[in-house]
Formats: sequence, structure tokens, C-alpha cells
Amino acid sequence: MSKVAILGFGVVGSGVAEVLKRNGAHIGEKVHGSVELKYILDLKDFPDSPFGEKIVHDFAVIEGDPEVDIVVETIGGARIAKEYTQRALAAGKSVVTSNKELVAKHGYELMELAREHGVSYLYEASVGGGIPIIRPLKQCLAANEITEVCGILNGTTNYILTRMIRAGLSFDAALKEAQQNGYAEADPTADIEGHDACRKICILASLAFGRHIYPEQVPTAGITGVTLSDVAYADSCGRKIKLLGRAIRGEDGRIRAFVEPHLVRGEDPLAGVEDVFNAITVRGNAIGDVMFYGRGAGKLPTASAVVADVMDAARNKDRPKYIDWGPGGEDVTLPPDDVSSSWYVRAEVPADRLRQLLGDVTLLARAGAPGGECAVLTAPMTRGELDRRLSEVETGSVFRVLED
Ligand code: HSE
Repeated sequence: MSKVAILGFGVVGSGVAEVLKRNGAHIGEKVHGSVELKYILDLKDFPDSPFGEKIVHDFAVIEGDPEVDIVVETIGGARIAKEYTQRALAAGKSVVTSNKELVAKHGYELMELAREHGVSYLYEASVGGGIPIIRPLKQCLAANEITEVCGILNGTTNYILTRMIRAGLSFDAALKEAQQNGYAEADPTADIEGHDACRKICILASLAFGRHIYPEQVPTAGITGVTLSDVAYADSCGRKIKLLGRAIRGEDGRIRAFVEPHLVRGEDPLAGVEDVFNAITVRGNAIGDVMFYGRGAGKLPTASAVVADVMDAARNKDRPKYIDWGPGGEDVTLPPDDVSSSWYVRAEVPADRLRQLLGDVTLLARAGAPGGECAVLTAPMTRGELDRRLSEVETGSVFRVLED
């Protein structure tokens, strides 16, 4: 029998409580025992909730209760969540989390702590919501040398871009809808500025390449600069704008990871990933390309992945699961300066001048473009080369074009 405590009764935490209750019999059958929710830690009381009587306010109650063997951390952030995770692991309890910020910033040390105490630290829900990606990457693709992981990793920004593309909504109106649907982080800055996608590519890259890759090693741009005119120019050349997190292994073995808006060809499977859906493609030297797709945000999809980890921890009490990686370091990554690409450039510059600066370009057109505005696709070059050529020009948007 396993007894569970949930830390944080927000969107995901309450989803976990609901799934544990609704699917209790099925879960018990699968783990050959039972999984029972004993406590929920939150600052607030929830007198009207069916789980109201399980609320406690003091983590020490959970920490000191030997019956609790699994702690679900759905607080988020890397401060109090880190302290409680450390204390739970040190007390010999397995910890399951959906907290990508904590795993991306401190995953290695928490995994080491879990090993020290013979318990599991599991985080399937931290990337891709309900999409099974962590175990497949660690286990099913283990035979491959992975050369690239690339994905649409943030549901909120994908929802916003989809609504801009499909319904012509402004960025602000689309963000409001995403927040109303409960997809956005408490502070939407983490979504729209790309930090959430950055944390997720850190986790995927650490797993895929075996060393901890930290958020500060991943240059990140979000979607706040994407305009409806960029959407129209992209459409004119059969492309869609998508925020991609990518981690590429160079021939020197070092990882170039980054998060940036990209223009993706209409026929690319990533272009068809809409609304809150996420997709992750992994390129391995035996399997070729493989893609994982599903609901990347939302209460029940995320809870589904958390509860699966809870079941795994319950089933493997005596044989903890280690889904971990090695230490990070400055030798692990390089800035993506040498990753060559075609570029989408929009600027208030006459076409002839852009041609002069950038050489061979494809000129784009859109209805209603003001005079003097110009948008092009360039030939492949590095970002450094592009910036050098455009040094005297004020640019609007500059996005990478995903190669075919
Ligand atoms: N805010 C996140 C997203 C939630 O929109 O993808 C899931 O991690």
C-alpha cells in the first residue's frame, strides 16, 4: 500500500487528487496494492472541496509521517518546492513532480539526493503535459546516438500563435483566451518569453545527451515580437510561425540549444500541431526521426502523467527508478552561433537595399503592406553573419527558418 501527499492544490495538484480518486480501483489493480491520498499541503483551506479534510498547512506533518511514501510536488517554482523536495527525499520518500523549473535548474542534484536515499525522483509531467516523452527518451531510444531534439514545448504560446494564424486575433486577445482556459503559467511571462520552453528543452536535452544542461546555457526568445504581419508573410510562402525549442549535438559532441520562433514549412508535421498541443521530434542514428504528440498543458493531461509516475513509484518501492543524467558544466554546451539557417527578415528597408546586403533572397508579399516594408527569406547563414550584414539596418522581426 502507498500513501500519497500532494504539495500544492492548484490546477495540476487538484487534477492529481481527482484522477487518484476517480481511477482508484484501476490504479490499485495495476500496482497490485492501493494508492491512497492522505494529505494535501496548501496555504489555503478548501472547505467546499471533497478533498477539504485532507488539507494540511505544515509540511512537517507529511515529512514526519512514515506512512507517506510518495510526495507529489505541484507547487511550482524553484524555492519552497526545492526545499520540500529535498526534505521529502531525505526522509526516504519518492517524489513525483510536474515542476519543470525545478528539474531544469536543480534536477541533477535532486536526482543524486534520491539515489543517496534509495528513492525515486520522477518528472514525466514536467515536459509535454500528458505526452509520454521522458521514459521513451531515456529507455526506448536508448540504443540511439541522438543528434537533435526539437519541439513545440509550450501549449500557451502554441495556442496564441494558432489563434493569431487561424482567427486573426491580436496577441493580447489570444493570450487572454489561453489564460481563461487555464493553460498559462501563473505569470504568463514564463510562457510568452520562452522561459517555460527553455526549461523543457533543458530537461529533454539533459536526458538525450546525458549531462545537465542549465537554462542559462540556452539562449531564449519568445513570441512577444510576433505580429499579424509576420503571420501573413509566413502564410504567403506556405509556412507557419512556431516557437521551437531545439538541442543539436555538434560533431564536437557539444550541444547547441536554443528557443526561438521559427518559420516551419506547411508540410512539416510540426506545422500541423495546433492549439495547446505539443510535439517533440527526436532524431536518432538508428531510428531516424520519431515524433511524440499530444496535449501539452491542462489539468487532467498533466495529472495523467503525474499519476503514472506515482504508480511507478508505488510499484517499484524496493527497486527505485533512476531516470537521471550526469553533471553539467561549461564543456557541455556551446552557443548556437555556428548553427546555420535560412532566415526570415522583416524590415523597413527597400527591397533592393535588402538584396544588396543579404545577397540571394526570396521576396515575400502580403496584402495591405505599408510602403517601405519588406520581408524576405535568406540563403543559409549563421546568425552572426546575418547580424553583420544587417548591422546598419533597423529590423522588425528576424526568425529562423526550420530546414526541410
Ligand atoms: N504553461 C505551460 C504551457 C503549462 O503552456 O505549456 C504546461 O507546462
